[in-house]
Amino acid sequence: MATTRRPLVAGNWKMNGLRADGAALAAAARKGADDRCDVALCPPATLLTTVAAAIEGSSVLLCGQDCATETHGAHTGDIAAPMLADAGCRLVILGHSERRHDHGESSALVRAKAEVAVAAGLAPIICVGETEAERNAGGALAVVGQQLSESVPDSAPGLVVAYEPVWAIGTGRTASAHDVAEMHRHMRDCLDTMTGVDALATRLLYGGSVKPGNAAELFAVADVDGGLIGGAALKANDFWAICQSAAEAV
Ligand code: PGA
Repeated sequence: MATTRRPLVAGNWKMNGLRADGAALAAAARKGADDRCDVALCPPATLLTTVAAAIEGSSVLLCGQDCATETHGAHTGDIAAPMLADAGCRLVILGHSERRHDHGESSALVRAKAEVAVAAGLAPIICVGETEAERNAGGALAVVGQQLSESVPDSAPGLVVAYEPVWAIGTGRTASAHDVAEMHRHMRDCLDTMTGVDALATRLLYGGSVKPGNAAELFAVADVDGGLIGGAALKANDFWAICQSAAEAV
């Protein structure tokens, strides 16, 4: 892990959590906050206010899970980036494979969302990753390179990119350290060709079945600057063990 980039561990709760769980997980995150590593919590929209209150005064960052391309108006069920910022969010996940798959989100849409997020003062965490078929066909680097070039806006202060192989999300399988190293180097090279992107400053997260038992190995890989954590983020002890691994990998 590069010492110039402070690691980030973001806990993506997805569509999980009721008020009591949110308060308990946020309290645990707050207790474990460490000045070597940034920690973000990405609760569902219903818990943003609960979690914001629970982490107030700590260094834990609040993060949305998605935002609309519009800033307000007649869009039932959507959440606008300025509303996330108003709720206390500093970051927003965009283009997660579950959004790309379940809601048919294209990279062009992700880019439009990222532009509106940036305008609202949010740092986008843009997710990319290949399917198993694409990897088996030898196309993983090309697929991710194309997703990056089509999803990343021209200007994105604080940009974070999460590499999440689709086949590793929630499956208990992770990419090998060798494949993660190859992909993260490739992503940084791709970002370096984009105008308006500071490739060296961009934090590149790995996501997909990160657990306490594999976090240290993954975070030790060159060009891995932390992780986007799903299932393990719902267990306070596991999440904090993973945050500790990121802090120690610096
Ligand atoms: P997982 O999810 O850790 O449960 O595999 C990661 C993610 O989807 O962000």
